[in-house]
Amino acid sequence: MQGLLEGKVALVTGAGSGVGRAASLLFAEHGAKVIAVDVNADEAVATAAMVRTEGGEAIAVECDVSDPASVDHAVAAGVEAFGRLDCIYNNAGITISPVPGKGLRSLIECEDEEMRRVSEVNVMGVVHGCQSAIRQFERQAKDGLGGGAIVSTASVAGLIGYGGVFYGATKGAVVQLTRALAIEVAEKGIRVNAVCPAGMLTHYAGMDPDSEHRDRILEGMGRVHPLGRAIDPRDTASAALFLCSDLASNVTGVNLPVDGGLSAGRKVGG
Ligand SMILES: NC(=O)c1ccc[n+]([C@@H]2O[C@H](COP(=O)([O-])OP(=O)(O)OC[C@H]3O[C@@H](n4cnc5c(N)ncnc54)[C@H](O)[C@@H]3O)[C@@H](O)[C@H]2O)c1
Repeated sequence: MQGLLEGKVALVTGAGSGVGRAASLLFAEHGAKVIAVDVNADEAVATAAMVRTEGGEAIAVECDVSDPASVDHAVAAGVEAFGRLDCIYNNAGITISPVPGKGLRSLIECEDEEMRRVSEVNVMGVVHGCQSAIRQFERQAKDGLGGGAIVSTASVAGLIGYGGVFYGATKGAVVQLTRALAIEVAEKGIRVNAVCPAGMLTHYAGMDPDSEHRDRILEGMGRVHPLGRAIDPRDTASAALFLCSDLASNVTGVNLPVDGGLSAGRKVGG
Protein backbone atom coordinates (compact mmCIF):
# COMPACT_ATOMS: atom_id res chain seq x y z
CA MET A 1 0.00 0.00 0.00
CA GLN A 2 1.43 3.38 -1.00
CA GLY A 3 0.48 7.04 -0.71
CA LEU A 4 -1.01 7.03 2.81
CA LEU A 5 0.36 10.54 3.44
CA GLU A 6 0.14 11.89 -0.11
CA GLY A 7 0.23 15.70 -0.11
CA LYS A 8 0.70 15.91 3.67
CA VAL A 9 3.47 17.66 5.60
CA ALA A 10 4.89 15.68 8.56
CA LEU A 11 7.36 16.80 11.20
CA VAL A 12 9.37 13.99 12.83
CA THR A 13 11.47 14.58 15.97
CA GLY A 14 14.46 12.38 16.73
CA ALA A 15 14.71 11.99 12.95
CA GLY A 16 18.47 11.51 12.98
CA SER A 17 18.46 7.88 14.12
CA GLY A 18 16.49 4.70 14.78
CA VAL A 19 12.70 5.04 14.72
CA GLY A 20 12.77 8.71 13.62
CA ARG A 21 14.94 7.97 10.60
CA ALA A 22 12.82 4.92 9.69
CA ALA A 23 9.65 7.05 10.02
CA SER A 24 11.08 9.91 7.93
CA LEU A 25 11.89 7.48 5.11
CA LEU A 26 8.57 5.61 5.40
CA PHE A 27 6.43 8.78 5.59
CA ALA A 28 8.22 10.18 2.51
CA GLU A 29 7.74 6.84 0.72
CA HIS A 30 4.02 7.40 1.37
CA GLY A 31 4.06 10.87 -0.16
CA ALA A 32 4.69 13.12 2.85
CA LYS A 33 6.95 16.16 2.75
CA VAL A 34 9.13 15.59 5.81
CA ILE A 35 10.57 18.04 8.32
CA ALA A 36 13.40 15.95 9.84
CA VAL A 37 14.15 17.39 13.27
CA ASP A 38 16.92 16.37 15.66
CA VAL A 39 19.20 17.87 18.30
CA ASN A 40 22.00 16.26 16.28
CA ALA A 41 22.00 18.53 13.23
CA ASP A 42 24.38 16.39 11.15
CA GLU A 43 22.21 13.28 11.53
CA ALA A 44 19.03 15.24 10.71
CA VAL A 45 20.74 16.50 7.56
CA ALA A 46 21.78 12.91 6.73
CA THR A 47 18.18 11.68 7.11
CA ALA A 48 16.82 14.47 4.88
CA ALA A 49 19.48 13.58 2.28
CA MET A 50 18.43 9.89 2.43
CA VAL A 51 14.81 10.88 1.84
CA ARG A 52 15.80 12.98 -1.17
CA THR A 53 17.99 10.16 -2.54
CA GLU A 54 14.88 7.97 -2.48
CA GLY A 55 13.01 10.62 -4.50
CA GLY A 56 11.15 12.22 -1.57
CA GLU A 57 11.04 15.76 -0.21
CA ALA A 58 12.58 16.69 3.14
CA ILE A 59 14.32 19.46 5.02
CA ALA A 60 16.42 19.11 8.15
CA VAL A 61 16.05 21.35 11.20
CA GLU A 62 18.24 21.34 14.31
CA CYS A 63 16.03 21.40 17.39
CA ASP A 64 16.18 20.46 21.05
CA VAL A 65 12.64 19.37 21.94
CA SER A 66 13.17 20.26 25.60
CA ASP A 67 13.24 23.95 24.54
CA PRO A 68 9.80 25.27 23.50
CA ALA A 69 11.30 28.09 21.39
CA SER A 70 13.40 25.55 19.50
CA VAL A 71 10.31 23.44 18.73
CA ASP A 72 8.35 26.54 17.61
CA HIS A 73 11.28 27.39 15.32
CA ALA A 74 11.24 23.88 13.78
CA VAL A 75 7.50 24.06 13.08
CA ALA A 76 7.87 27.56 11.59
CA ALA A 77 10.78 26.42 9.39
CA GLY A 78 8.71 23.49 8.14
CA VAL A 79 5.70 25.68 7.41
CA GLU A 80 7.91 28.17 5.60
CA ALA A 81 9.34 25.37 3.43
CA PHE A 82 6.15 23.39 2.75
CA GLY A 83 3.30 25.81 3.47
CA ARG A 84 1.50 23.90 6.23
CA LEU A 85 1.69 21.13 8.86
CA ASP A 86 -0.55 18.06 8.86
CA CYS A 87 1.17 15.68 11.33
CA ILE A 88 3.73 15.85 14.07
CA TYR A 89 5.48 12.69 15.23
CA ASN A 90 6.93 13.41 18.71
CA ASN A 91 9.46 10.61 18.67
CA ALA A 92 12.64 12.02 20.24
CA GLY A 93 13.46 10.32 23.51
CA ILE A 94 16.32 9.33 25.78
CA THR A 95 16.72 7.02 28.74
CA ILE A 96 18.64 6.81 31.98
CA SER A 97 22.20 5.64 31.33
CA PRO A 98 22.84 2.01 32.29
CA VAL A 99 25.35 1.07 34.99
CA PRO A 100 28.50 0.03 33.06
CA GLY A 101 28.90 -3.74 33.05
CA LYS A 102 25.67 -4.25 35.01
CA GLY A 103 22.77 -2.91 32.98
CA LEU A 104 19.60 -1.08 34.02
CA ARG A 105 19.97 1.46 36.82
CA SER A 106 17.57 0.88 39.73
CA LEU A 107 15.50 3.84 40.92
CA ILE A 108 17.72 4.41 43.95
CA GLU A 109 20.80 4.49 41.67
CA CYS A 110 19.35 7.30 39.52
CA GLU A 111 20.79 10.81 39.86
CA ASP A 112 18.43 13.76 40.11
CA GLU A 113 20.12 15.71 37.32
CA GLU A 114 19.81 12.83 34.83
CA MET A 115 16.17 12.14 35.76
CA ARG A 116 15.39 15.83 35.18
CA ARG A 117 16.98 15.73 31.72
CA VAL A 118 15.13 12.52 30.75
CA SER A 119 11.90 14.11 31.92
CA GLU A 120 12.60 17.33 30.02
CA VAL A 121 13.12 15.42 26.76
CA ASN A 122 10.61 12.57 27.11
CA VAL A 123 7.73 14.45 28.74
CA MET A 124 8.26 18.17 28.10
CA GLY A 125 9.60 17.44 24.60
CA VAL A 126 6.27 15.78 23.74
CA VAL A 127 4.34 18.59 25.47
CA HIS A 128 6.20 21.23 23.43
CA GLY A 129 5.60 19.31 20.19
CA CYS A 130 1.87 19.07 20.97
CA GLN A 131 1.60 22.77 21.91
CA SER A 132 3.45 23.99 18.87
CA ALA A 133 1.55 21.71 16.47
CA ILE A 134 -1.86 22.59 17.95
CA ARG A 135 -1.11 26.32 17.61
CA GLN A 136 -0.16 25.74 13.96
CA PHE A 137 -3.26 23.58 13.34
CA GLU A 138 -5.39 26.40 14.82
CA ARG A 139 -3.77 29.00 12.53
CA GLN A 140 -4.51 26.73 9.56
CA ALA A 141 -8.11 26.19 10.71
CA LYS A 142 -8.69 29.95 10.27
CA ASP A 143 -7.74 29.42 6.59
CA GLY A 144 -10.27 26.58 6.36
CA LEU A 145 -7.73 23.77 6.76
CA GLY A 146 -8.95 22.10 9.96
CA GLY A 147 -7.71 19.04 11.80
CA GLY A 148 -4.24 17.62 12.23
CA ALA A 149 -2.65 14.48 13.63
CA ILE A 150 -0.33 14.15 16.61
CA VAL A 151 1.51 10.88 17.25
CA SER A 152 4.09 10.34 19.98
CA THR A 153 6.48 7.52 20.76
CA ALA A 154 5.73 6.27 24.26
CA SER A 155 6.90 2.74 25.16
CA VAL A 156 5.65 -0.60 26.38
CA ALA A 157 7.37 0.59 29.59
CA GLY A 158 4.62 3.23 29.83
CA LEU A 159 1.93 0.51 29.78
CA ILE A 160 3.36 -2.14 32.11
CA GLY A 161 6.17 -2.32 34.64
CA TYR A 162 9.03 -3.18 32.30
CA GLY A 163 12.68 -2.12 32.47
CA GLY A 164 13.85 1.21 33.87
CA VAL A 165 11.49 2.62 36.50
CA PHE A 166 12.02 6.34 35.92
CA TYR A 167 12.06 5.97 32.12
CA GLY A 168 8.78 4.02 32.35
CA ALA A 169 7.30 6.82 34.43
CA THR A 170 8.12 9.39 31.71
CA LYS A 171 6.52 7.17 29.07
CA GLY A 172 3.49 6.59 31.32
CA ALA A 173 3.11 10.37 31.33
CA VAL A 174 3.07 10.36 27.51
CA VAL A 175 0.42 7.60 27.54
CA GLN A 176 -1.85 9.62 29.82
CA LEU A 177 -1.17 12.89 28.00
CA THR A 178 -2.25 11.14 24.79
CA ARG A 179 -5.63 10.16 26.23
CA ALA A 180 -6.41 13.45 27.97
CA LEU A 181 -5.22 15.68 25.10
CA ALA A 182 -7.20 13.59 22.60
CA ILE A 183 -10.36 14.51 24.51
CA GLU A 184 -9.35 18.17 24.86
CA VAL A 185 -8.76 18.80 21.14
CA ALA A 186 -11.24 16.36 19.58
CA GLU A 187 -13.74 19.11 18.82
CA LYS A 188 -11.07 20.84 16.70
CA GLY A 189 -10.73 17.68 14.60
CA ILE A 190 -7.22 17.09 15.93
CA ARG A 191 -6.35 13.45 16.64
CA VAL A 192 -3.79 12.43 19.30
CA ASN A 193 -2.34 8.93 19.51
CA ALA A 194 0.87 7.18 20.56
CA VAL A 195 2.85 4.10 19.68
CA CYS A 196 4.29 1.94 22.47
CA PRO A 197 7.21 -0.11 21.21
CA ALA A 198 9.11 -2.81 23.07
CA GLY A 199 12.92 -2.93 22.89
CA MET A 200 14.49 -2.17 19.51
CA LEU A 201 18.15 -2.35 18.52
CA THR A 202 18.92 1.32 17.80
CA HIS A 203 21.51 3.78 19.14
CA TYR A 204 19.23 4.27 22.15
CA ALA A 205 20.68 3.45 25.61
CA GLY A 206 24.17 3.14 24.15
CA MET A 207 23.25 0.11 22.01
CA ASP A 208 24.94 -0.48 18.66
CA PRO A 209 22.69 -1.49 15.75
CA ASP A 210 25.84 -2.31 13.73
CA SER A 211 27.20 -4.66 16.39
CA GLU A 212 28.89 -7.83 15.14
CA HIS A 213 26.55 -9.65 17.59
CA ARG A 214 23.45 -8.08 16.00
CA ASP A 215 21.74 -11.39 15.11
CA ARG A 216 22.28 -12.85 18.59
CA ILE A 217 21.04 -9.64 20.27
CA LEU A 218 17.91 -9.55 18.09
CA GLU A 219 17.21 -13.20 18.82
CA GLY A 220 17.42 -12.51 22.56
CA MET A 221 15.13 -9.47 22.24
CA GLY A 222 12.60 -11.48 20.24
CA ARG A 223 12.51 -14.33 22.74
CA VAL A 224 10.56 -12.24 25.30
CA HIS A 225 7.76 -11.51 22.79
CA PRO A 226 4.89 -13.96 22.22
CA LEU A 227 5.36 -13.46 18.46
CA GLY A 228 9.03 -14.37 18.93
CA ARG A 229 10.60 -11.58 16.85
CA ALA A 230 12.44 -8.44 17.94
CA ILE A 231 10.75 -5.13 17.11
CA ASP A 232 12.31 -3.34 14.16
CA PRO A 233 12.29 0.50 14.06
CA ARG A 234 10.26 0.18 10.85
CA ASP A 235 7.55 -1.77 12.75
CA THR A 236 7.13 1.24 15.04
CA ALA A 237 7.30 3.67 12.12
CA SER A 238 4.56 1.67 10.35
CA ALA A 239 2.24 1.99 13.36
CA ALA A 240 2.95 5.75 13.49
CA LEU A 241 2.26 5.99 9.73
CA PHE A 242 -1.15 4.38 10.19
CA LEU A 243 -2.03 6.73 13.08
CA CYS A 244 -0.92 9.82 11.10
CA SER A 245 -2.86 8.73 8.01
CA ASP A 246 -6.51 9.16 7.08
CA LEU A 247 -6.94 5.39 7.57
CA ALA A 248 -7.04 6.32 11.27
CA SER A 249 -9.40 9.28 10.75
CA ASN A 250 -11.74 8.04 13.50
CA VAL A 251 -8.99 6.86 15.88
CA THR A 252 -7.89 9.09 18.76
CA GLY A 253 -6.65 8.67 22.33
CA VAL A 254 -5.05 5.31 21.52
CA ASN A 255 -1.72 4.03 22.85
CA LEU A 256 -0.90 1.32 20.34
CA PRO A 257 1.52 -1.38 21.53
CA VAL A 258 4.14 -2.44 18.99
CA ASP A 259 5.53 -5.21 21.17
CA GLY A 260 4.92 -8.60 19.60
CA GLY A 261 2.21 -9.24 22.21
CA LEU A 262 4.44 -8.53 25.24
CA SER A 263 1.93 -6.31 27.05
CA ALA A 264 -1.06 -8.57 26.25
CA GLY A 265 -0.23 -11.03 29.01
CA ARG A 266 1.51 -14.29 29.57
CA LYS A 267 0.82 -17.83 28.40
CA VAL A 268 -0.26 -20.04 31.29
CA GLY A 269 0.63 -23.74 31.24
CA GLY A 270 1.41 -25.67 28.01
N1 LIG B 1 15.04 1.51 21.25
C1 LIG B 1 14.22 1.04 22.17
O1 LIG B 1 14.44 -0.05 22.73
C2 LIG B 1 12.95 1.79 22.51
C3 LIG B 1 11.89 1.09 23.13
C4 LIG B 1 10.72 1.77 23.45
C5 LIG B 1 10.60 3.12 23.14
N2 LIG B 1 11.67 3.77 22.54
C6 LIG B 1 11.48 5.18 22.23
O2 LIG B 1 11.59 5.33 20.82
C7 LIG B 1 11.98 6.68 20.52
C8 LIG B 1 13.07 6.67 19.49
O3 LIG B 1 14.21 6.03 20.06
P1 LIG B 1 15.27 5.23 19.17
O4 LIG B 1 15.25 3.84 19.68
O5 LIG B 1 15.09 5.51 17.74
O6 LIG B 1 16.62 5.90 19.75
P2 LIG B 1 17.85 6.61 19.01
O7 LIG B 1 18.77 6.98 20.12
O8 LIG B 1 18.36 5.74 17.91
O9 LIG B 1 17.21 7.92 18.36
C9 LIG B 1 16.75 9.00 19.15
C10 LIG B 1 17.00 10.30 18.40
O10 LIG B 1 16.47 11.36 19.20
C11 LIG B 1 17.40 12.42 19.17
N3 LIG B 1 17.24 13.26 20.35
C12 LIG B 1 17.65 12.99 21.63
N4 LIG B 1 17.38 14.02 22.43
C13 LIG B 1 16.78 14.97 21.65
C14 LIG B 1 16.29 16.27 21.90
N5 LIG B 1 16.38 16.81 23.12
N6 LIG B 1 15.72 16.97 20.89
C15 LIG B 1 15.66 16.43 19.64
N7 LIG B 1 16.13 15.21 19.34
C16 LIG B 1 16.69 14.49 20.33
C17 LIG B 1 18.76 11.75 19.12
O11 LIG B 1 19.77 12.65 18.65
C18 LIG B 1 18.49 10.59 18.19
O12 LIG B 1 18.73 10.95 16.84
C19 LIG B 1 12.34 7.31 21.87
O13 LIG B 1 11.25 8.10 22.32
C20 LIG B 1 12.54 6.11 22.79
O14 LIG B 1 12.31 6.44 24.13
C21 LIG B 1 12.81 3.13 22.21
